[in-house]
Amino acid sequence: MTELPELQAAAVAAAGAAADLEELDEVRVRFTGKRSPLAELQQGMRDLSPDERKARGQQLNAFKAAFAAAYDARHAELASAALRARLETERLDLTLPPRRVPVGRPHLLTQVEQEMLDVFVGLGFAVAEGPEVESGTYNFDLLNIEPDHPARQEMDTIYVSREDDVVLRTHTSPVQARVMTTQEPPIAVVCPGRVFRADSVDATHSPVFTQIEGLVVAEGITMAHLRGTLLTFARRLFGEDRQIRMRPSFFPFTEPSAEIDVTYEKHPSGWLEILGSGMVDPNVLTACGIDPLRYSGFAFGIGVERVAMLRHGVTDIRDLFDSDVRFLTTF
Ligand code: PHE
Repeated sequence: MTELPELQAAAVAAAGAAADLEELDEVRVRFTGKRSPLAELQQGMRDLSPDERKARGQQLNAFKAAFAAAYDARHAELASAALRARLETERLDLTLPPRRVPVGRPHLLTQVEQEMLDVFVGLGFAVAEGPEVESGTYNFDLLNIEPDHPARQEMDTIYVSREDDVVLRTHTSPVQARVMTTQEPPIAVVCPGRVFRADSVDATHSPVFTQIEGLVVAEGITMAHLRGTLLTFARRLFGEDRQIRMRPSFFPFTEPSAEIDVTYEKHPSGWLEILGSGMVDPNVLTACGIDPLRYSGFAFGIGVERVAMLRHGVTDIRDLFDSDVRFLTTF
């Protein structure tokens, strides 16, 4: 039979030397488990005399107490070492600079378009949209554009099908025609969208550009309403001290027609043309099923690229279509 004090020393030493919690548990099973020398000794107690049993009992208790103390001490050491190791591996380095997350934004043209639409929506206009591939009927006929008008010549118009009279719309006025043929006055709409013209590309021309056209039709609409609306628009967009002036002009679908300029210090004349406008021609109202004796209206058309370039000092329209992020991220 193994000597108990020796066994005790071996058990305490083994516990103290356990390299990790797993090994410590193996030591516990080896020295105090069901098939350990300790268990054997406890079983053997039955065969001892009362005196021997008392002495052995004390030794066994001393063994258990000594082992428990060694076990607990080592357990505490190993557990805190394991915790420290875990904290070390899971430590967050708060001094690391964060990874940059690139944030997108709407294209400059979209921003300006939204800003312009906001002004009109604030004035009570609804937004109407229509197809980019349009019939000649809406793009020309209903708008009083005669078959021999230069705008119809292939030079300006990109035809999808000549036989079927299908074009890429040359302005967003056909959307206004669509609104007039389907809605009763009072009407107040703005029509944003891309338009197409067979122009060659240079710093100020693009075969694709963006327009916002507006239309108001109601009883008693006069040129004063047109002027007031566009003055408000010009001031919201370019600054409260802006003036506008109207110059006589010509459009097939408006009579009278006016070109509108805003004050612009950078131009030698002090004025800059920003849009075309006029009172809706009675022929257009009639063609769209609206009684010109009862109703009158005004219409206007603005180029969004023009406004974006003016507002942000962009000198080449191609910058708005090149999708160069170095340019786009500056806005
Ligand atoms: N449709 C014209 C254009 O594209 C603009 C415009 C609209 C002019 C309404 C007057 C009235 O040039």
